[in-house]
Amino acid sequence: MSHLDASKLFSVKGLVAVVTGGGSGLGRTMALTLDANGASKVFVVGRRENALKETASLAVNGTITPVTGDVASKESLEKVYNAVASQTAHVDLLVANSGTMGPKAQPPTKSDGTKPSISEVRDELMAVPMEDFTNVFHVNVTGAYYTVVAFLPLLDAANKKRPVPDPKVLSLPRPQVVITSSIAGFNRQVPFSYSYSTSKAAVTHLIKMLSTSLASYQIRVNGIAPGLYHSELAEPLYKIRGIEGKGTSDGSFPMEQIPATRGGGEEDIGGLILWMAGTAGGYLNGSIIVTDGGRLGVVPSTY
Ligand SMILES: NC(=O)c1ccc[n+]([C@@H]2O[C@H](COP(=O)([O-])OP(=O)(O)OC[C@H]3O[C@@H](n4cnc5c(N)ncnc54)[C@H](OP(=O)(O)O)[C@@H]3O)[C@@H](O)[C@H]2O)c1
Repeated sequence: MSHLDASKLFSVKGLVAVVTGGGSGLGRTMALTLDANGASKVFVVGRRENALKETASLAVNGTITPVTGDVASKESLEKVYNAVASQTAHVDLLVANSGTMGPKAQPPTKSDGTKPSISEVRDELMAVPMEDFTNVFHVNVTGAYYTVVAFLPLLDAANKKRPVPDPKVLSLPRPQVVITSSIAGFNRQVPFSYSYSTSKAAVTHLIKMLSTSLASYQIRVNGIAPGLYHSELAEPLYKIRGIEGKGTSDGSFPMEQIPATRGGGEEDIGGLILWMAGTAGGYLNGSIIVTDGGRLGVVPSTY
């Protein structure tokens, strides 16, 4: 078999991974993809034990282990780390994917098509408790940051067990962190949620900073910036458009909202993590991959 065969290029055989937010949505799909393609151990982390167990029950190769924990608590992250460390001597891939949506901002137009007055804007935005705004940062930014920091020793351990380089073959990928950001962090025209969008802009910068500061430790850091994928978090965005189901077939969305005219599907995010985690993704470091069907290019025109 050629080294360029897809099964070689996207191989994650034997990989040990941790996926936060693995009990639902994108995290569940990424965990199931890694399991289905030969990973040896996939730890899924989240607060809801039942959701994590459900992910594990869907794993075709049975490699998924639930670990309950809260990424917004350092104490909880230490417990998560110890639970994982008791079951593996290293981690090849850490997907810091847990995230939460923020309080909705005042839409640029009201349901009758008129622009809200400045006092209506003030009233709506001031009605949101500051804690609700800050909590989004706490989970999305602080949580992702401490997740990465907590797992540094197990990621480093993956470097220590590498085989001696063979000049005739491509060396295996170095350990990697993938953090889920969002196209919301790139877009300033549509204030769907100030706290969510600004938190994801911070996450994107965090990815770049960590990839630089961990480079000399040979720990790679990359990011994913999804557009619209059906999930618990994104459900309201489907509801306001009256979209039933996952909206993954052509024509589900108007072209002005998503040029692909559909939402992201499991194959889109599963294929992406397989590429990033596999042999063919070994040269990625400091990259943020946008997966949005072209939405970022048109999003200023509408929600
Ligand atoms: N879906 C989209 O369109 C889209 C677009 C751009 C970016 N994203 C990002 O993708 C990531 C996954 O979201 P999703 O769309 O798949 O939505 P989701 O199904 O709601 O997943 C969010 C996950 O985060 C976990 N989580 C939330 N707070 C946590 C905490 N304090 N500690 C541990 N885990 C926590 C949740 O598990 P528990 O509740 O069990 O803790 C849940 O499994 C998020 O970072 C989100 O911002 C999604």
